[in-house]
Amino acid sequence: MKILIAYGTKYGCCEKCAKILSEKLNGTVDLFNLKKDENINLNEYDLVIVGGSIYAGKIRNEVMNFCRSNLDILKHKKQLFLYVV
Ligand SMILES: Cc1cc2nc3c(=O)[nH]c(=O)nc-3n(C[C@H](O)[C@H](O)[C@H](O)COP(=O)(O)O)c2cc1C
Repeated sequence: MKILIAYGTKYGCCEKCAKILSEKLNGTVDLFNLKKDENINLNEYDLVIVGGSIYAGKIRNEVMNFCRSNLDILKHKKQLFLYVV
């Protein structure tokens, strides 16, 4: 199974969680910091995990932007999880 963990972090807590999660999961896991200005081919992944930290009541912008701009693909994923720190 191919797994993507895409996360938005400011001080690294969410990234640390992504790394811990990646060690616990079976399959090939790609970690992706959403601050990177690169495209990800979401069609490659069986499971997508999105992580983000909260500041002043809102999840980080890069996480929101990623979800909004990939909504059509994400909503058709059989397995999609969100974690928040
Ligand atoms: C200025 C500031 C504002 C924050 N606002 C919230 C908040 O509204 N709700 C919340 O649950 N946590 C809030 N936090 C806590 C962070 O979300 C928490 O420390 C998180 O683990 C940071 O993750 P990151 O290092 O991946 O960005 C805030 C932290 C800071 C420094």
